[in-house]
Amino acid sequence: MGKNLVQKIIDAHQAGGSLVPGEEVAVSVDSILMPDSSGTMACLQFEAMGMPKVKTKLAVIYADHQTMQDGFENADDHAYLQSAADKFGLVFSKAGNGICHQVQLERYSRPGWIQLGADSHTPTCGAVGMISIGVGGLDLAVAMGGGPFNFVYPKVIRVNLNGRLKPWCSAKDVVLEVLRLFGVKGNVGCVIEYGGTGLPFLTVPERGTITNMGTETGVTTSIFPSDEQTKAFFAAQGRESDWQPLGPDPDATYDRVIDIDLDSLEPAAAMPHSPGNVGKIKDLAGKTVHQVLIGSCTNSSYRDLMIVAKMLEGRTVHPQVSLGIVPGSRQVYQMIAANGALATFLNAGARMLESACGFCFGSGQAPRSGAVSLRTSNRNFKGRSGTADANVYLVSPETAAIAAITGVITDPRDMEKLYSMPYQSIGLPEKYILDDSMLIKPTGTAEIVRGPNIGQPPKKDPLPQKLDGAVAIKVEDNITTDHILPASGGLMKYRSNVAKYSEYVLRDVDKDFPARCKAYQAKGTPSIIVAGHSYGQGSSREHAAICPMFLGVAAIIAKGIERIHCANLVNFGILPLFFTSDADYDAISPGDELVIENLHQAIEKPQVTVTNKTKGTTFSARCELSERQREVLRLGGLLNYTRQKAS
Ligand code: F3S
Repeated sequence: MGKNLVQKIIDAHQAGGSLVPGEEVAVSVDSILMPDSSGTMACLQFEAMGMPKVKTKLAVIYADHQTMQDGFENADDHAYLQSAADKFGLVFSKAGNGICHQVQLERYSRPGWIQLGADSHTPTCGAVGMISIGVGGLDLAVAMGGGPFNFVYPKVIRVNLNGRLKPWCSAKDVVLEVLRLFGVKGNVGCVIEYGGTGLPFLTVPERGTITNMGTETGVTTSIFPSDEQTKAFFAAQGRESDWQPLGPDPDATYDRVIDIDLDSLEPAAAMPHSPGNVGKIKDLAGKTVHQVLIGSCTNSSYRDLMIVAKMLEGRTVHPQVSLGIVPGSRQVYQMIAANGALATFLNAGARMLESACGFCFGSGQAPRSGAVSLRTSNRNFKGRSGTADANVYLVSPETAAIAAITGVITDPRDMEKLYSMPYQSIGLPEKYILDDSMLIKPTGTAEIVRGPNIGQPPKKDPLPQKLDGAVAIKVEDNITTDHILPASGGLMKYRSNVAKYSEYVLRDVDKDFPARCKAYQAKGTPSIIVAGHSYGQGSSREHAAICPMFLGVAAIIAKGIERIHCANLVNFGILPLFFTSDADYDAISPGDELVIENLHQAIEKPQVTVTNKTKGTTFSARCELSERQREVLRLGGLLNYTRQKAS
């Protein structure tokens, strides 16, 4: 029987485990990437493992999230990262060179490779036919040391993109349709493999928009075949020799097949406050818009900015609208500077922003109170923009650009009617500007630079024989890692300072949570978090596990926990358990004392008995751990586990 593309790549990298969907497989890793936000802790963990050099074929650190520099902390982190990159053998992408996923796609993606990234939008590189997965920093540190990556062998969903997009519809509308069909939960353990008759018309940057935002469905990753479009992209990037054709066997089978008719798609938006809350632009038309932001690691390519430039040419931004534009990389910036599009943006009244993550996670550009903000980024969780009551709509560059002109949500197809502008298709340039001077190659000679912001990874004791803890908080469904640990409001600078960052855990849900955990900790009582569905969705930020661990959280019992967050919990020695019925969740109150006896033996079984001593009841919780994860938990986390394996 033939193999699909996902099976071909995983099977060729198998380094252990099982090739059966739903069971854990270990794979070798070709390349890794990390942004500064998770990179500092990943490098500190790599150091703590005592590894001398990175062993993957390629490893890159990006200074892209923490570029605000409203204090010494961000610069301290960058100095540490640059020195660590040099010493351990990683390329260092300097601040100003662009956002990790855009630059990695342009300069370092490779068909057929397996790549890990300490960021949830790492699947972007699936656009060129590679398996590219977002993981926590500790998993990344292990891979840097040459260790395999363990994950659940995925189910593969084939999504056929058939036909051709109509004018004024683009890749964002495709991925919004995927989100409408899949939703943002229930897709854990799956990979989306794209095919269909429409692929010859979708360029790699357009495919990158689709793989990037596929993350929001909760799938492990998304992938396109490597074909003639991929070849053209590599040629334009001057990397012909990195290309190879790669696709599924003709008789490949899939766990599920879904067809999307590209001709039938219309301009769409993810409405407040979830990427899965998808509606049509024509139904939202006329709503006043206060802010438009174009860019982030989604929709910041040369193609995306050029369609915006065409639409803004000779026009000005509406007086009530603030328009910000973020080219995804220095390459894109250089391209629009060279061809005059940058001047078009300035003449139109756009605010040109640094090529960095910035507004996407709430670092700057917080909109006014109650604002309607149209963004081409990938997440619109409540408060992520930095303004608690703002309403963020995620839209295509075309929909963003026309709203910037009209001041209201407008169907981009109205460009023809309102401004007599016929649609202009933007393809790949024949050649991108090639300048890798801000990608600093390692020399192996640097001394590590540790400013006062550089801390140490916290330590964790092995799993105790009995868990006797208190429910420190009970939360509802859809608690994101932004809720668990906000990155907005300048807090990201504390990523290297776990003690300080821990003061903000679940701050916006219950500001007393950290103090309560510390009070329990002082009495020797572990804290337990009780949660609804999709706990830990969103960003891969492992600090959403590290900081609760630091506060003494020993277990999360939830209706559902998202994939990367669940792996991070295990990596930091926190036990993830799952309710078997809603009634068990309903019966627990904050402050209840929960006990699990014989913990080491209990986690061997698929069901764990939990006693609620306060209520005098017991219930069963699912324990979905592989044998390796049980061992990791018993030893107190992946760092201890890796050290023990190494010794
Ligand atoms: Fe950065 Fe936002 Fe992407 S924080 S990596 S631009 S999702």
